[in-house]
Amino acid sequence: MSSNQSPITHKIFCVPKHVAIIMDGNGRWAKRQGKMRVFGHKFGVKSVRRSIRFAVQHGIQVLTLYAFSSENWKRPVQEVNALMELFVHALDGEVKSLHKHNVRLKIIGDLARFSSCLQNQIHRSEELTKNNDGLILNIAANYGGRWDIMQGVKILATQVKTNVLQPEDITEDLLSKQVCLYDLVPVDLVIRTGGEHRVSNFLLWQIAYSEFYFTDVLWPDFDELTFESALNAFAQRERRFGGINTP
Ligand code: IPE
Ligand code: IPE
Ligand code: MG
Repeated sequence: MSSNQSPITHKIFCVPKHVAIIMDGNGRWAKRQGKMRVFGHKFGVKSVRRSIRFAVQHGIQVLTLYAFSSENWKRPVQEVNALMELFVHALDGEVKSLHKHNVRLKIIGDLARFSSCLQNQIHRSEELTKNNDGLILNIAANYGGRWDIMQGVKILATQVKTNVLQPEDITEDLLSKQVCLYDLVPVDLVIRTGGEHRVSNFLLWQIAYSEFYFTDVLWPDFDELTFESALNAFAQRERRFGGINTP
């Protein structure tokens, strides 16, 4: 696992199909400038825009962004409210442009906790872009990896209860089909900004064989160069998936 940004020494030749990003460090970025944390979140939206553009330009098929975790409700109510407002605002302001650029948008997470107004807005945005065949953009909001697995288990448990399924017939493949992103290519690369080396309840099931790239760069400073460094690091990884690579 790499924590530093290696200089770009060669052209990217092996672009990951699916990149997931833990966008961390907004609060510290703002604090360093003597500003309120929410200022960092606002600037973070620019990095989101930049990353989407970069993903489209580099032929990444799927980009999954961690925007709000199931644990982020623990934050002061003012910060949570500011994040919700920002989310509504960003959806409102960006969805037309995403549609124009052929992006398919999907929000993953436990949406039931959001206001009905926000839920409707999410639904409308997904409907508008559902037939686009360019970049697939997943935004994880009120998402938790444990929640994701649990909701999948509940679906299978209900099938067992109603005799649609026998316990002995439960396979990894069956559960895989009940968790978020099941219909997409596997997550190749997870990038975490902000210097922490942890997963913070992001995609747990889906990252069993993903590569990780950690950088100290704070999310509002995440730019094309940092993204490129992550892709270059990925291109140098040897993925074995438990097997051995024959020469
Ligand atoms: C990430 O930045 C954004 C969210 C989790 C919503 P943080 O708000 O966690 O910023 P730091 O990690 O405190 O600097
Ligand atoms: C992870 O960041 C969640 C998101 C980026 C949305 P946190 O700031 O919530 O994670 P911890 O608390 O440092 O583990
Ligand atoms: Mg953080």
